[in-house]
Amino acid sequence: MKISLSIGAVLSASLIAGTQAFPHFANRAEAFGDGLKSEDSELTKAWLKKIDEFKAGGGDYEKRADSNGGGRKLTALINPANFKFNADEQLVDIYSEAHRFQPPGPNDIRGPCPGLNLLANHGYLNRNGVTTLTQGIDAINRVFGVGYDLALALNAYAVVFNGNLLDLTWSIGGPYGSSGLGAITNLLTNSEPKGINAHNIYEGDASIVRQDYYAPGANHDNVHVYLPYFEDLLKLGGNDATEGKDVYNAELMLQHKANRWHESVATNPLFFNSAFGGLVVTTAAERFVAEFAANNTADENGYNRIYLDEKNLLAFFSVTKDANGKLTYTPGHERLLDGWYRRPLAAQFGLEDIVLTLLNAAKIDPSLLSVGGNAGQVNTFTGVNVGDLTGGVYNLETLLNNPQALSCYLYQIGVEELIPTQLGGLYKVLGTVLDFVGKNIAGPWKKVATAGNNPCDSFNSNIKEAYAKYPGSKIE
Ligand code: HEM
Repeated sequence: MKISLSIGAVLSASLIAGTQAFPHFANRAEAFGDGLKSEDSELTKAWLKKIDEFKAGGGDYEKRADSNGGGRKLTALINPANFKFNADEQLVDIYSEAHRFQPPGPNDIRGPCPGLNLLANHGYLNRNGVTTLTQGIDAINRVFGVGYDLALALNAYAVVFNGNLLDLTWSIGGPYGSSGLGAITNLLTNSEPKGINAHNIYEGDASIVRQDYYAPGANHDNVHVYLPYFEDLLKLGGNDATEGKDVYNAELMLQHKANRWHESVATNPLFFNSAFGGLVVTTAAERFVAEFAANNTADENGYNRIYLDEKNLLAFFSVTKDANGKLTYTPGHERLLDGWYRRPLAAQFGLEDIVLTLLNAAKIDPSLLSVGGNAGQVNTFTGVNVGDLTGGVYNLETLLNNPQALSCYLYQIGVEELIPTQLGGLYKVLGTVLDFVGKNIAGPWKKVATAGNNPCDSFNSNIKEAYAKYPGSKIE
C-alpha cells in the first residue's frame, strides 16, 4: 500500500493553527501548507552539494574538517565550526523558573529517550511527560538545533504510532491513560495510545545503554539505563574525564553502535533490527548524543567548537560518578548543566544528516545497514536480502556507495511500505491517519529522497512477510 500525499482537511487545519507556536519557524508556514516545501533550504543545498561531490568521486560521505584545536573530523552537513560562537544566541535558558531543572514527580512520565526526558525536566516539554506535536517540534529545534523536517518527522511518527492523532498528543514513555482521549479509542484496535516505550515500533534493539526488550534477564526493561553498557561507552572513551575535551564524537559513538549490535546478536536470541526502530532510530540516537548532548564554546579564533566531554555525557544520561569511579544511575533525572550552549541555529542537523550517519556507520561496520534478526538462538543473525526486498532495484553495494540510493531505499521501505503495514495493525480505519502520514512523515522523507530530481522509483516489497520469519519482530 502506498501513502497518499493529499492533505487531511481536519488535521491540516489544526496544524496550520499550530504554526503560531513555533518562534523559530516564523516563516515556516509553507511547511504546513502542502507539506513538501523546504524550509531547511540550507540543509537541502548542503545535501545536493554533498551528492555532487560524491558523484565526482569526493570519497567521504561527510565533510572531514582539518583536525585543528580539537575540531571534529566527522562533522554534520552544515558544520557548526563554520560559524562564530555567539553566546547570546546559543545560550539555552535553564535558569528561569519555567526552565530550571526539576526532577519528575511520582505521576510524571519518563521513558527511554534521554533527550526527551531532559526536555521535560527543563520544562520545554510538559513536565508530566505528555507533549504535543507542535510543542515537541519547537522544543527539539529550540534547545538542540534539530532541523525542521527531522523534527516534524520524529514528532509525527510519535503521534501516529504512540499517541493520539485526534488531539496530536503523545507520551515520552508509557501509556497516558484514557481520560480526555475522546474518540481515539474508537479508532485504535488496542483502545489507547501506548507511548514511545512500545517495543519494535519506535523503540528497538541494540540501543546505546538500554537492554533489548526480549534479552534474557532484562525483564522486558527497555527503558532504564543498564550501567554495564554505560561503562562500555566510558571505556571506549578511555575513561577520559578531561573537562572540555571532545571525547564522545560521532566516530566514537558509531563505533559504540557497532559494538552494541554485535553484543545483541551474541546475547539476545530474539534480537531484531527493524527498518525504522532499529536501523534508523537506534543508529541516529548514537549520533544524536555526539551532536545534541554536546556543549559548544568559542575556539581560539572565536569560531564555534562543539565538544562532548564526560561531565556533560553523564548529566545527559542521568548518571553520576564518585571519586572511586563508581557509577550511579537515577532514573528520569536527565539534565543540562549550567553553562551549556547549543549548536548555532544556522548549523541545524537534519534528515539528510541521518542518511549520511547510516553510511558512516556502515563504513565502520556494514552489518549496521542490515534489517533482520536472530532466528531464536544467539549468533544466528540473517539479514533480509536488499535485492529481494527491492525487487532487484538495489543491493547492499549500491546502498553503501550512494547517499541518494540509500535515502530512496529508506523512504520506500521505511515509509511507503512499512508504515501502512504497521498502521493496519493499530488502526481500525486508515484514511485520516494515512493523510497525516503522507504530509508529515512521507513529505519530509520524500523531499530528501527526491532532492536534485533523484527519480526514487517505487518498488513492491513484502516487508510484512520478510519480518514474519524473525521471532523477535513482534510488536509489544
Ligand atoms: C520527537 C523527538 C524524539 C523522539 C520521538 C524520540 C524517541 C526515542 C525513542 C523511542 C528512543 C528509544 C530507542 C531505542 O530503543 O534505543 C530514543 C532513544 C534515544 N534518543 Fe530520542 N527521540 C526524540 C528526540 C531526541 C533528541 C532531540 C535527542 C538528543 C538530544 C535524543 C536522544 C536519544 C538517545 C541518545 C537515545 C538512546 C538512549 C539509549 O539507548 O540509551 N532523542 N528516542
